[in-house]
Amino acid sequence: MMDSKTEGDEKVYEKLESLIKHGFRILDVGCGDGSFLNQITKHHDISGVGIDPSPAKREDADTNCTILKAESVGELEEKFDLVYSINSLHHFGDVSEFFEGVPEKLKRPGNIILADWKEGASTGRPESYFSREHISKLMTEAGFEVTESRDLERQFFLVGKLF
Ligand SMILES: C[S@@+](CC[C@H](N)C(=O)[O-])C[C@H]1O[C@@H](n2cnc3c(N)ncnc32)[C@H](O)[C@@H]1O
Repeated sequence: MMDSKTEGDEKVYEKLESLIKHGFRILDVGCGDGSFLNQITKHHDISGVGIDPSPAKREDADTNCTILKAESVGELEEKFDLVYSINSLHHFGDVSEFFEGVPEKLKRPGNIILADWKEGASTGRPESYFSREHISKLMTEAGFEVTESRDLERQFFLVGKLF
C-alpha cells in the first residue's frame, strides 16, 4: 500500500495496481517530486517517466521526472502502456491541448487514469478546478472510452481506454 496523500492518490494507485503488467512503461503527467512514480515503479519492478514543467526537488531524489508541459506531451519520443495524472490537470495551461496530444503517446489498448480536485472543492488554495463532466467530455472527444467515472469526497476519478 502506498503512503497515501489524498483519496485520489489512493484510487489511482489501486487502479494502477490492477492494470500494470510485467514490462509496462508508464507516464506520470505533472509528476511533482516524482515520489508516486518512484513508489509504483519500484513496487512493481516496471519503468516509467514523469513530465512536469517545474518538478519539485527532493534531497533523496531517485526519480525520473523530465521538464516538459503536459500540453507538449507529443514531444516525447516514445509510447507508453499507461498514462496517469494526479491533482495536476487544473495546473495545465491548456488542458484540451493535453488531450489532443496524449492519444498518440499511448499504446493500444491503453488506459489513462486521472484524479484531480473537483469543481468547487475547498482546498484552501485560490485555484479553480474542472468538473468531472468537463474532463470526461474531453476524454471522449479525444477518442477514449470512459470506463470509470466517479466523484470522490473532494476529487473526481476517471479512467479511459483507447482501443
Ligand atoms: C499539486 S502538484 C501534484 C504533483 C503530483 N502529481 C502529486 O500528486 O504529488 C501539481 C503539479 O502540476 C505541475 N504542473 C504545472 N503546470 C503543468 C503543466 N502545464 N503540465 C504538467 N504539469 C504541470 C506542477 O509543477 C506540480 O508539480
